[in-house]
Amino acid sequence: MFDKKIKKNLTSVLFVCLGNICRSPTAEAVFRHKAAHEGLAIDIDSAGTLGAHIGSTPDKRSTAVGEERGYNFKKIKCRKVEVKDFARFDYVIAMDKNNVRALLEICPEEYQHKIALMMSFCDAEEEEVPDPYFGGKRGFEYVLDLIEKASDGLIDHIKARFA
Ligand code: 4NP
Repeated sequence: MFDKKIKKNLTSVLFVCLGNICRSPTAEAVFRHKAAHEGLAIDIDSAGTLGAHIGSTPDKRSTAVGEERGYNFKKIKCRKVEVKDFARFDYVIAMDKNNVRALLEICPEEYQHKIALMMSFCDAEEEEVPDPYFGGKRGFEYVLDLIEKASDGLIDHIKARFA
């Protein structure tokens, strides 16, 4: 039954990181793949708090490790978080605590309950998805591992909420 409910009143998720070229596009691609696999119609997008890479495609290091595991980044373009996102999306999911702080600074009080940390949706040793931008390939693989795990938890959370 939850399937029908979600389709009628589409659940929406916005993933947020700093640049919107590494972690949040990865979360968008992974979560899109997992939601489709589960037959869940969810409105999914990603954005950054920085705005320095607007219009760019995701970082090649993110797409390389993601595509190796079958995720598709083709339609993703960098954009900055806008205040209207807080009204539009049911979940605004930040990759780290700095992103949460940046979001809270611009989020109207009535929508602040929508902001959550990505890693809060699973049991993991990490509280945050660490910024891989200045590191090597292993960091991008680790980010992908964490995002896959948290995405599974978010899928379960949404299923339970609409069951
Ligand atoms: P992201 O990584 O927040 O995961 O997209 C970064 C991308 C760009 C920058 C920092 C982090 N930057 O400083 O340009």
